[in-house]
Amino acid sequence: MEVKLAKSAGFCFGVKRAMDMVYQQIGTGKKIYTYGPIIHNEEVVKELEEKGVTVLNPEEIDRISEGTVIIRSHGVERAVLEKLAAKGLECVDATCPFVKRIHATVERESRLGKQIIIVGNRSHPEVQGIKGWCETPAIVIKDEDDALNLEVVPKKEYCVVAQTTFNYTKFQKIVEITKEKIYNALIVDTICNATEERQTEARELSQAADAMIVIGGKRSSNTRKLYEICADCCENTYYVQTAADLRFELPESVGFVGITAGASTPNNIIEEVQNYVRINF
Ligand code: F3S
Repeated sequence: MEVKLAKSAGFCFGVKRAMDMVYQQIGTGKKIYTYGPIIHNEEVVKELEEKGVTVLNPEEIDRISEGTVIIRSHGVERAVLEKLAAKGLECVDATCPFVKRIHATVERESRLGKQIIIVGNRSHPEVQGIKGWCETPAIVIKDEDDALNLEVVPKKEYCVVAQTTFNYTKFQKIVEITKEKIYNALIVDTICNATEERQTEARELSQAADAMIVIGGKRSSNTRKLYEICADCCENTYYVQTAADLRFELPESVGFVGITAGASTPNNIIEEVQNYVRINF
């Protein structure tokens, strides 16, 4: 049986980096908090809790007076960093460098007087964080309708950025509409290609494989999307959360199994699934 694991399976660069930073803090003897759950995976959050890492909700900052607060890869508003510093709390900033770059762009361009437009989902923590680095209130647009309804102030300069995980095709359409309204807008494509890379690789692998295993949490929307892509190309596609879900038989004709995993699937689960498939199938 040939087994191939997609190179882009699991954590992206920014999330992996943030997780590594959390593990570096464990064992320092300090009280450790993450500003919100470090990733959307309950198992991982529970495991970290057992190791002494507490999830801190924004409204809880006021009740703590010591410890280290780790900022997750999505990043936060500048005011949050200032608040932590004012309280004398140590801060480990695990904001993804790609997100940091957006913070720097919006801070600089808004300081120069430009109106910032963020293309993304306004309730997403990453967008909230980006908004919090703008010197003047930013406008958030999520779709083409919002772009069409955008009220443009004559002679005002604009700068457009995007949430890193925003759909590229949708962003392009929004940019086209915006450009018709604002001739000299500064458009900065800040979409990160980690998600797209993972999907493209999953598609290619599932086209070649006889069976495909997709690993991820039940409620993970990006894992579901990966599953749909793979199921379209390979009829023997299975969605599992852990190796414990692998209690099925593969059709006799299967000689090549492909494996991929959603963005919040930890490495040890991917390893376990891979080993199980190699030994038992
Ligand atoms: Fe991940 Fe950073 Fe991209 S967190 S999705 S590598 S912007």
